[in-house]
Amino acid sequence: MLREAAQLGPSETLDPQDWADIRALGHRMLDDMIDYVATIRERPVWQPIPDVVRAQFREELPRHANELGDVYRTFADFIAPYATGNVHPGFMGWVHGGGSAVGMLAEMLAAGLNANLGGRDHVPIEVERQVVDWVRQMFGFPAGASGLFVTGTSMANLMAVLVARTCALGKSARQHGIGDQGALLTAYTSKAAHGCITKAMDIAGFGSDALRCIAVDESHRIDIDELREQIARDRAAGLKPFLVVASAGTVDIGAIDDLDSVAALCHEEQIWFHVDGAFGALGVLSPELAPRLAGIEQADSIALDFHKWGQVPYDAGFLLVRDGECHRDTFAAPAAYLRRETRGLAAGSEWPCDLGPDLSRGFRALKTWFTLKTYGTDRLGAIIARSCALAAYLEARVRAEPRLELLAPVNLNIVCFRYRADDADRVNREIVVNLQESGIAAPSTTMLDGRLAIRAAIVNHRTDRCDIDALVASVLEFGARRAASGADLTFATQRATNSQSERQIQSSTRINNF
Ligand SMILES: Cc1ncc(COP(=O)(O)O)c(C=O)c1O
Repeated sequence: MLREAAQLGPSETLDPQDWADIRALGHRMLDDMIDYVATIRERPVWQPIPDVVRAQFREELPRHANELGDVYRTFADFIAPYATGNVHPGFMGWVHGGGSAVGMLAEMLAAGLNANLGGRDHVPIEVERQVVDWVRQMFGFPAGASGLFVTGTSMANLMAVLVARTCALGKSARQHGIGDQGALLTAYTSKAAHGCITKAMDIAGFGSDALRCIAVDESHRIDIDELREQIARDRAAGLKPFLVVASAGTVDIGAIDDLDSVAALCHEEQIWFHVDGAFGALGVLSPELAPRLAGIEQADSIALDFHKWGQVPYDAGFLLVRDGECHRDTFAAPAAYLRRETRGLAAGSEWPCDLGPDLSRGFRALKTWFTLKTYGTDRLGAIIARSCALAAYLEARVRAEPRLELLAPVNLNIVCFRYRADDADRVNREIVVNLQESGIAAPSTTMLDGRLAIRAAIVNHRTDRCDIDALVASVLEFGARRAASGADLTFATQRATNSQSERQIQSSTRINNF
């Protein structure tokens, strides 16, 4: 180790010897990435990863230096062409946002500043505070509300469970654990809620059995009567209901719970009202959708992702809490090395590290600030409304096509449907794999009432009618082929697709042609 250190010149750092070289390469990277986004339609949505590509990432730890240009070439040849695909308008799987060129540039600027947003007195913290204030205004929360950026809604939901825990048990639970009182606490959500709520209850120390998953109606909205009855049954059994998690956009079909009724019930029962608004909450930006979210402004806390419908590049999750003091009581932990001053760099209490588990935090706020400032919330709201209109268009196409079947009501931007066939689960699973491997479209699957559905979540601002038409045409084509074949044809197709990808690699080695 010492011998290695001795090889460094006396003032040698990691900065380049010649800034002109890195400037030129940096400009090229920027041009390439702008081209990548601008010409995204010319590429497949996603493509299978050939073994030769995977092998690039099974190397020994690089002890010795490599030329930056060579490292970049590996990125251009082997990473960029094999990314998830959610930048592409044909990506409709899970609930992935498309990002934007503006967000991409902001990420570069944030990386240059290399700011640590755990705390201290610098303007990046003010930028985060500005966005917190904007989010507060979006949801009509009071001035004392607090908020911060986190990785995603899974983390924001977990933190909300912890804040609700503090509200129910007091701060002392942080020292003593949840104890006997905590063992009596019960939480409520719907059967259609995202799995991260169950995980949050487990991680928070309550155990997932303390979460009651309430039945839903035919539109996948929580059954309020059943919720009320379950709370009453639990109280009668000596338990202490402390939290209801409502969904503003369920993951499977985009259902929005009756938030007004949940709010009223929580108020009556003195229970923490949290909204999982991972993607749906930003529907408040659209005048058409906002009325369907009525009641969200009464929540005690809201979890949401700017990286979904907000089109901010990953990751940009967010937690908003009405009672900032309770939020602080849940996470603030004084430490000598984090002492606050009235002047100097350590001034400016409160720090974001007081509001969450992370001390070191990146500048997620910058890409969100750039996105909100550059596009404005009206335009983002219009993009959100358009993806719902596209979902309605897909619904109409499915309804008009006798070979297709709609499997769930279309609430927002998610359409669940399938190709009619004997052995429909197998056929539709294969259709989705074939669609993904063809590079034409990338929906995902889910199970609805025991039936496998093709699930198209339209989130990307680039998605247009032509992408919906391509999806429908391909489902019909692959469906006809799959229904006529046995399972082994799938593997033959996969082999063919793989060798096609190998050919693509050989022809994509130009550095500026991902
Ligand atoms: C309703 C809902 N809740 C929570 C999550 C988890 O969010 P994240 O992936 O940002 O952690 C999702 C993800 O799609 C979701 O749709």
